[in-house]
Amino acid sequence: MSFRNQINVSKLPDHVAIIMDGNGRWAKEQGKLRVFGHKNGVLAVRDTVEGAAELGIKNLTLYAFSTENWNRPKLEVTALMELLVSTINKETKTLMENNVRLNAIGNLEALPSRCYKELKEAMEKTAGNTRLTLTLALSYSSRWEITQASKKIAADVVAGNIKEEDITEALFSSYLSTHQLPDPELMIRTSGEHRISNYLLWQLAYAELYFTNKLWPDFRREDLFEAIFNYQQRERRFGLTSEQIS
Ligand code: FPP
Repeated sequence: MSFRNQINVSKLPDHVAIIMDGNGRWAKEQGKLRVFGHKNGVLAVRDTVEGAAELGIKNLTLYAFSTENWNRPKLEVTALMELLVSTINKETKTLMENNVRLNAIGNLEALPSRCYKELKEAMEKTAGNTRLTLTLALSYSSRWEITQASKKIAADVVAGNIKEEDITEALFSSYLSTHQLPDPELMIRTSGEHRISNYLLWQLAYAELYFTNKLWPDFRREDLFEAIFNYQQRERRFGLTSEQIS
């Protein structure tokens, strides 16, 4: 039976975060350049977004480019940025038709200006869409984000806008780039690596982690459904005992 039919749709995670990993290895397996893997990764993005929307997931966040990825060979970085621009260009119409809002987190100003412009336009165009919020983490790292938030809080304390005693977990969260999103309940990483790689460190505090050996270009909606079904079999205790939960 397909995993889709076994999912309890009344208990969906509100927010699923994904580390799309394995594009390079997928390409290498076929004797192709790494960029070929990224291009095929776009097909996996499309199918996963469609699957999430079809199921009724409200928030999907994809790690598309990390701060550390800037150190990759220049050719690969340029190709990835081109791919981003062309994908956003091509897919904005589909996002509108499917009522999907495009959002982005990370040091967006570090992106090439054409990429930043395309992204901003697509975000503005889709801002009113309500079915699913698709967030791309771009030029993103969690330590960068937490450092930025700390600086802003410090500046607000110095300016007298807030007092030291106002600093709570909720206030800290409100200074993060994810302030409009609930914390992810489920984080999926492909390609068999068991790491978080500087991704949403604060927000993933209580997330369930799901790892699959599938390389990202092979990932499809049925794999998303399998991960969600697996998540639904788990007991989330948030530090309590099993008896307290039941
Ligand atoms: C990780 O695989 C993947 C990336 C760094 C880029 C992800 C980008 C895409 C899927 C395409 C563009 C996405 C959007 C949202 C338009 P890797 O290169 O680290 O693979 P490896 O670990 O096998 O080397």
